[in-house]
Amino acid sequence: SPKKLLVLPGDGIGPEVMQEVRHIMTWLEQKRGLSFEVSEDLVGGASLEKYGVPIRDEVIEKAWAADAVLFGSVGDPRWAHVGFEKRPELAILKLRQELALFANLRPAQVFDALVDASTLRPEVVQGLDIMIVRESVGGIYFGSPRGIETLSDGSKKGINTEVYTTSEIERVARVAFDLARKRQGRVCSVEKCNVMESGLLWKEVVTELHAREYQDVELSHMLADNCAMQLVRNPRQFDVIVTGNLFGDLLSDLASMLTGSLGMLPSATLGVADESGKFPALYEPIHGSAPDIAGKGIANPLAQILSFAMLLRYSLNLQDAAQEIENAVSAVLASGLRTADIAGAGQKAVSTSEMGKAIIEVLNAA
Ligand code: NAI
Ligand code: MG
Repeated sequence: SPKKLLVLPGDGIGPEVMQEVRHIMTWLEQKRGLSFEVSEDLVGGASLEKYGVPIRDEVIEKAWAADAVLFGSVGDPRWAHVGFEKRPELAILKLRQELALFANLRPAQVFDALVDASTLRPEVVQGLDIMIVRESVGGIYFGSPRGIETLSDGSKKGINTEVYTTSEIERVARVAFDLARKRQGRVCSVEKCNVMESGLLWKEVVTELHAREYQDVELSHMLADNCAMQLVRNPRQFDVIVTGNLFGDLLSDLASMLTGSLGMLPSATLGVADESGKFPALYEPIHGSAPDIAGKGIANPLAQILSFAMLLRYSLNLQDAAQEIENAVSAVLASGLRTADIAGAGQKAVSTSEMGKAIIEVLNAA
């Protein structure tokens, strides 16, 4: 039966890079016998313009019904000065919240051909392939009490609280252990148990779950500050890193720069599985709508294409198709083709559609 996909291109370069994914979907249908039932809808500024809201309830319902959601990016300078409830970016925040997408997966992978784009020395990052799993609906960004209080002397106090429960920690750790089984089999759990109670519980829960169900996976623990240092010193020591919302926010941004380019980085956010094992999931590039280059046809489509590969792998269990696309990306980069964002000085840059076409050519040749 066809796989139901909800495609939400969004604003700016979103629709431009999504177009290249649509070509790959068609290729998979024609050449690999796969079948996709694609529904496309407006989100962000595009939705505000037509419907007056950044995302409609109907789109949220479609997201629940789909096997997976492929998201582009939202954000439109024309809506920058309106009220909070009319920000295009609310579309993605609402989707994450409504679908309870608690695990954010951010791979940091260095392609051989782009090893020089890294901020670190080539010999430190060659072959780098890390997966950071960030808890994304709990922790200090959401815990209560929170707020700003006025004290009796008139000065103020700002409060945030980190709260994690056993079940919140377990479900995200489970995602990390399951991923590790399909990778190099190693999980590093990151917290600050030396100064935080929530970190102490985090470590305890991960350790117990590991002993109970995942003894085949190698588990290590690291303090978050040390982890930041180790990611820069020797990033290849890591396979899967699992951590809370705040540390994951910082560490995944740090790790993304090890690979050199924003236009190359995909991500996934996964929700809770129902009894049938089906779980809501949303796949999107790390980058935003890039208003500075929108409409010029020069955006790098590879992050969006690699996000689709993640969708095939994790939501549709189509490992071969995912691998084929990832190999095609490596091959095209190895052939020297570059969009402007990853072209070196003096290197000729190709357009978004030329990059997309080159991927299809490599797929055809395989
Ligand atoms: P951005 O990621 O859109 O752009 C940052 C820089 O990277 C720009 O110079 C841009 O041209 C470049 N860039 C990004 N993606 C690229 C690609 N695929 N190919 C070539 N160059 C690329 O981040 P920025 O400028 O901070 O935000 C722009 C808008 O996007 C804002 O409205 C922001 O809120 C929104 N945004 C949305 C996200 C989402 O939909 N999940 C995530 C991040 C930002
Ligand atoms: Mg961030």
